[in-house]
Amino acid sequence: MDTMYWKDNTLFLLDQTKLPIEVTYVKLKTYEEVAEAIVSMKVRGAPAIGAAAAYGMVLGVMGFRNDQNLDNYLRNVYETLKNTRPTAVNLFWALDRMWKKYLEVKNQNFEEIAKALLNEAKSIFYEDIELNKKIGAYGLEVVPENASILTHCNAGALATAGYGTALGVVRAAFAAGKLKRVFADETRPLLQGARLTAFELLEDGIDVTLICDNMAGYVMSLGLVDLVVVGADRVTANGDVANKIGTYSLAILAKEHGIPFYVAAPYSTIDLNLNSGKDIPIEERNPDEVRKIGDRLIAPSKVKVFNPAFDVTPAKYITGIITDRGIVRPPYRENIKKLFGGN
Ligand code: MRU
Repeated sequence: MDTMYWKDNTLFLLDQTKLPIEVTYVKLKTYEEVAEAIVSMKVRGAPAIGAAAAYGMVLGVMGFRNDQNLDNYLRNVYETLKNTRPTAVNLFWALDRMWKKYLEVKNQNFEEIAKALLNEAKSIFYEDIELNKKIGAYGLEVVPENASILTHCNAGALATAGYGTALGVVRAAFAAGKLKRVFADETRPLLQGARLTAFELLEDGIDVTLICDNMAGYVMSLGLVDLVVVGADRVTANGDVANKIGTYSLAILAKEHGIPFYVAAPYSTIDLNLNSGKDIPIEERNPDEVRKIGDRLIAPSKVKVFNPAFDVTPAKYITGIITDRGIVRPPYRENIKKLFGGN
């Protein structure tokens, strides 16, 4: 199942807010529609947001009218897409890559510019699948035989261009015959674990057991988890990791139980411009996401809510970061720089 595809100058996006009940694609023809789809989380997951935004730039350039200044117009498209979600750095990485391509070709004729931007968006998309397969291959090294892996949120095919990061490791382990089962945290408030991870693993015939977020500690205490693998929205220069809210608690639980805790992420998630996790902007979302499940109110409609979408796991809790260039281990600042200092 494709997270998104490009056809007839249109971005077809799998509407993840409807999964697993309905499998439907929305047809996006303008960059504003792409921005809305990112904000409303029809598309979500760091690499998938980046790829969608790249296609959003293409739709932007296709909507250009000759009476405008192309530089100013496209900068506005860039800013609109940039202001959708603040935490996953892949969004800014993809937009910057598209902008760089634009600067390279801006003196060519309009058709050439549009073609070059479309090719760049397609490269971002297809490269991501390859990066995830590399993550999977490197990750295999840390997966013991007959492994039970616990994961949080959805860092799978649905969160990327395909294959997944954390679920890329799961898929590689499954293909190698090393996987016993996966525990998927449901991941309140928006239930990416229940709705998306459970769905995509079942589709692939992978043994998955759903648990509520507050069951993870007990499941670990029973000796049912061999390792934890999660995705990332941003990794800073010192190895701190922003990921879906609840990741931090899992990392501490894993440490207490002596369970290895791995983060899987492509190079596009690494942000060397930020010194530590304290510098990462954490998105706060609509309080109704906590007051409700789906459309149904589960709390007094006026109760105060705090709804951060992500948290930061300090590097000291992370056993290793599985990337497309290999597994990074402590000391993180030094080793991240060695692998990613060049770009
Ligand atoms: O709010 P979401 O669903 O976009 O959050 C997604 C996550 O936190 C993922 O774990 C992360 O983006 C990595 S996806 C490969």
